[in-house]
Amino acid sequence: AAAHKTFTPEELAERFPLFSNLTPEQREVLLLHFETRTAQPGDRIIRAGDAPDNVYFISSGEVEVRVADRKIPLTAGDYFGEMALLSGKPRSADVIALDYSKFVTLNQNDFRQFLRRFPEIRQQVAALAAERGEMNEGF
Ligand code: CMP
Repeated sequence: AAAHKTFTPEELAERFPLFSNLTPEQREVLLLHFETRTAQPGDRIIRAGDAPDNVYFISSGEVEVRVADRKIPLTAGDYFGEMALLSGKPRSADVIALDYSKFVTLNQNDFRQFLRRFPEIRQQVAALAAERGEMNEGF
């Protein structure tokens, strides 16, 4: 498990506001479930229409969400890939790396379990997913 550990619990809270209200012990447990990923500029991390696998939390770098003819940049502290995991629908957009980037990821089961365990975080995640979905419907 130590091999997957890229952050201390404190760093996790600092980098990702979503986790800041967890206790250090809860963050420690969460870290055990994270896997790290990297991407190079131009890599397609998510392809629209694919079946979902992971949610991605950006630890460093930059990606671009491409939906319709819009391009939405996301950077460190942001996350993506949550919409299909929540809805059970295919991926809603392409996500392309703009820079050398690092992520911590959770698989669908671990993400769902995590959200069940922390209803306040679930609400935040669901609210942002709804906002993103509405934004996309408008185009
Ligand atoms: P998902 O549908 O699983 O895969 C593509 C991801 O792109 C999606 O989850 C969101 O995380 C992200 N995404 C889609 N639309 C937007 C948007 N309007 N703004 C920011 N991110 C988005």
